[in-house]
Amino acid sequence: MWHRKHLLGIAELSADEIRFVLDTADRFEDIVTRAVKKTPALQGRTVVNMFYEPSTRTNLSFTTAERRLSADILSFSKSGSSAAKGETLVDTARNIEAMGVDIMVLRHQAAGAAKLLADNVRCSVVNAGDGEHEHPTQALLDLYTLRRWLHANRPDFPQEFSDLTVGIVGDIAHSRVARSNIWGLTKLGARVIVVGPATMMPVGIERLGVTVSSDLDDAIKKCDVLNMLRIQLERQNGFCPFPSLREYSRLFGVTRERLARLGKADLPIMHPGPVNRGIELSPELADSAQSLILKQVEYGVAVRMAVLFLVAGAGTNN
Ligand code: CP
Repeated sequence: MWHRKHLLGIAELSADEIRFVLDTADRFEDIVTRAVKKTPALQGRTVVNMFYEPSTRTNLSFTTAERRLSADILSFSKSGSSAAKGETLVDTARNIEAMGVDIMVLRHQAAGAAKLLADNVRCSVVNAGDGEHEHPTQALLDLYTLRRWLHANRPDFPQEFSDLTVGIVGDIAHSRVARSNIWGLTKLGARVIVVGPATMMPVGIERLGVTVSSDLDDAIKKCDVLNMLRIQLERQNGFCPFPSLREYSRLFGVTRERLARLGKADLPIMHPGPVNRGIELSPELADSAQSLILKQVEYGVAVRMAVLFLVAGAGTNN
């Protein structure tokens, strides 16, 4: 059962709650693959998408999910709103809530922004990425994609995640996607190897139950799937954590040749997007049959429908 009015992070969810979201997403995936991809589940409810940071996938995925649930949708971005005049997040949120909003979906550059909102409004809050903290719906759609891939391709993995080793590669320190994936994967029993240069590895990350490596070749040999991360140049605060993009790409980029040399030519590849083509991932691998990138985007709609449906139900005790 689901009792949470908000979805702020994966850290606070139990393994059963994560599985419940994934099972609910299965039901919505049946709907979004029909000719008529709509259900009245959120008819009469209003959702506002508050995006203080740029987004393509998350913003449009939530909007699509809301439309398929028949919700009324308001959209808000920092530029073009009174946030650009200095209005605080909480003031903006309370004013929007006064218009009769049921769910706020928030993308914000500050870690903790979604929690701040949840503490100051009466409606439900869904975290669509807060600074370097968490991106819970990205992790849920990654877990959902992995579970679908395991069911279709790995009958030798009957325990699902308990049999799985996932490599998360790249800018771990600045990645909310890495943090939410680590919480989710380890709660479901998967082994996680985080790989990247020491300058992109947060101190003490092994306390989250992961293995730390700076040797990508060695990690690839041990992994069943790789989740590649974007280098977040906008979060480096003027400090470049590697000598050159070329060197980073040579040490931590994944190509077809690299996988073939290590005997892992068919290793499935994930990436939350947007991809820096030719840096963390070669273009031919990003576009290959073993790339799950567009499956992640596709399944993201059903996963976000599930999240919106569940928090809306908990928000009204219905
Ligand atoms: N994966 C992801 O969060 O992408 P966007 O920044 O485009 O939303």
